[in-house]
Formats: sequence, C-alpha cells, structure tokens
Amino acid sequence: MSIQISSRTKAMQPSATLAFNDRMMAMRKKDPSTISFGVGEPDLPTPEHIKQAARKAMVENRTRYTSAGGMAELKDAVSMKYKRDNGLDYGPDQVMVAPGAKQVIGMALLSLCDPGDEVLVPCPYWISFIDQIRFASGEPIPVPTRQDEGFVPHADVIADHVTERTRAIILNTPNNPTGAVYPRAELERIADVCVENDIVVIADSLYESLVFGGAEHVPIASLGEEINDLTLTVAGVSKSYCMTGWRVGFGGGPVDLIKALTKINGQLSTCANSIAQWAALEALTGPQEPLKVIADEFAARRDLAIKLLGEVDGISFAPPMGAFYIYINCSELFGRTAGNTTLNNATDVSNYFIDEARIGLIPSTVFGDTGHLRLAYTTSQEDLAEGVQRMDSAIAKLK
Ligand SMILES: Cc1ncc(COP(=O)(O)O)c(C=O)c1O
Repeated sequence: MSIQISSRTKAMQPSATLAFNDRMMAMRKKDPSTISFGVGEPDLPTPEHIKQAARKAMVENRTRYTSAGGMAELKDAVSMKYKRDNGLDYGPDQVMVAPGAKQVIGMALLSLCDPGDEVLVPCPYWISFIDQIRFASGEPIPVPTRQDEGFVPHADVIADHVTERTRAIILNTPNNPTGAVYPRAELERIADVCVENDIVVIADSLYESLVFGGAEHVPIASLGEEINDLTLTVAGVSKSYCMTGWRVGFGGGPVDLIKALTKINGQLSTCANSIAQWAALEALTGPQEPLKVIADEFAARRDLAIKLLGEVDGISFAPPMGAFYIYINCSELFGRTAGNTTLNNATDVSNYFIDEARIGLIPSTVFGDTGHLRLAYTTSQEDLAEGVQRMDSAIAKLK
C-alpha cells in the first residue's frame, strides 16, 4: 500500500536553494575549507537586546497562543514600522503577523488566485514565488528583465504580459537573486499599469534595509492612493535584524486582504511563535543601531565583491544596489573544458567551481534563467576574498 500524495503537492518542487545549502553543509563537514556563497541569510548573530526580550518573554510565561494575526502589541509596532520606515499608514486592521514573510506571500496568493489566474513575476525570480503561485492554483507568468538594465522590470514589458486573467504581480525590491533596486520613476510607471488593469501588487520588501550606492528603497504603496489600495506590502525581521530562524513576517494592506490572510493563518498555523513575536517587538521598537551596523557590514562586503569580481576574466555582472546577492553572468565560460568535461550551462559551471575550487554558487536555472550564478556575500570578508581568488584560479585552468 502506498499513500497517494495530491497532484498539487507532487507538482511542487522542494526549495532548490535549501537543498543546495544542505549539500554545501555536508561538503563542509568533509572539507572545512569549503566556502558556500549559497546561503540566503545573514551570518551575523541576532542582536543581544532582541534575544534578551525573548528570554524575558519565556521567564514571564508568554508562551500561549496569540491572536491569529499576531499579538496586539506587535501589530501596533508593525503599523509604527510601516509609518516610520516606509511612510505608509496602516491601521490595526490593515496589518498582520505570520511565521515568516514567505508564509505571508503564500497566503496572499492563496487569497487571490482562482484556478488559472495569472500572476506576473519579473524574471529572474526567487523560486518560491513560482511554486507558491502554482500551489495556489495560479499560473506564473515570467516577465523578462535585462542584465544591461540592472534587471529592473520595464512597465511597458509588464503591460505586454497583462491579459484578462492577470490577477497580481509580485515585485521584490531589493531583489533576490539580482540585487536590483527598482527606481522610483519605473515604479510609478508600473503602478500606473497595475491601477489601469486592477492588478494586485504583492510588494516583497524583505531586504528593504539593505540598499547601497545611493539607491533608495521606494515602497510602491507610497506612490498614491489607488496603488495603495491594491498593494500588500510584505516585510519582516529575517534579513534586516538577522532573525531568519525566528520566523516572523508581516503584511500591511487593504482590510479585506489582511482579513483573508489572518483567516488562513489561523487555520494553518494558529499564529506566529509567541516568544518570537516578543523578540520581533523588541527588534522594531528597541534600539535601531544594529540595523545600521548590519547594513554597513553588507555594504562593505558588496563593495569588496564588486572590486574583486570585477578583476576576474570570463564573468560579468550588473552592480547590485541592494540585498546581499551578486548575479554573475558566466555564459562566456560555456564551451570551455576542464579535462574531459565541457561546461555547457550554469549548472556545469557551478559544479566545476564546487569540485575544483570548493566554492558554492547557486546556478540560475533555479531562478528562471540559464546563464548566471548567484553569489550571496553572507560570508566574512576574508572568505569572500579567498573564494573569489579560488574562482579566478579555477577559471584560469579552463581550456
Ligand atoms: C525575496 C524573499 N522574500 C521572502 C523571503 C522569506 O523571508 P522570511 O524569512 O521572512 O520567510 C526570502 C527569504 O530568503 C526572500 O529571499
């Protein structure tokens, strides 16, 4: 007898980035010199005052279920955060808290999609968007972007992909995997397309605190009343406050959508972890200096990565303006050989770098394109320098 798994679940791919990280961890156990640039989370610790708030919550037995949409104190703090950091006015019935931004996005798609509804996603994309859209019985529609335009989607290209089935668009800025930060002028044009066509925007701003080189994070919901009425602004503590494992994310937006998300959250997970909610409350309302310390460290790594990678022959990239990723074009290496092996695609190049140089970069098939590798500079600056040096040597050995 075998258990029949639903076709919806069978169609879902396991997270390729998590699988890659598991592979790198296993390799590092065997060879500690392995350097993984795969991990999409900060390597810095959660700030001490946030951990202290969690300890206090435990000692005070704040260990019970909270409301499905989060405890009132945290929801107030989330409204305050949206106002302070994003200039957005969300009342208490316009915000909710869930176990991670990933779940907020997944629940938004479940709330919005009927079978066959189309959801636009600028490509390259964070792979979970695609599986989440399909799981919600929607149809993902990739919208191409270009490396020579910094991977910023064009409003007119988005408009070309709109049909009568288009229900929503996911805009992730600062972007995983490309590091793009969408400029205000383009977001204004995209907002016009969305308003004209009644398209809901899922604005994934998880990396909002990590913007560099004079770039500005512009929340699309701040660009006018009509687009505000169509936008769910998704945020969280994972990347900004180094709290990936705590699993707390937020949604802010129209009342009816927040109600739907809260209902689903109540039925799927009851609520986010109560201790983690107290920690998130401290993250948002406590001292904000750690935010800057974390962002400064990533800015320094980003500058170092751009400098060092710029000196490596055979690759190219658009300088990232946010998040902690560099999206490296490796297509110039296709057709070159290492022993009996020819490198034909990004997966081959990734495997070659792992085998030859013990460095892990995620191939772009995972992100919907074929010619790139994603480097996450979530390592120390020493490891970053060492890793790029090894990449350079490995490329020099190719025939
Ligand atoms: C673009 C993007 N959105 C959302 C998430 C999920 O964040 P959280 O840890 O809050 O679930 C990630 C995590 O890697 C991400 O890269």
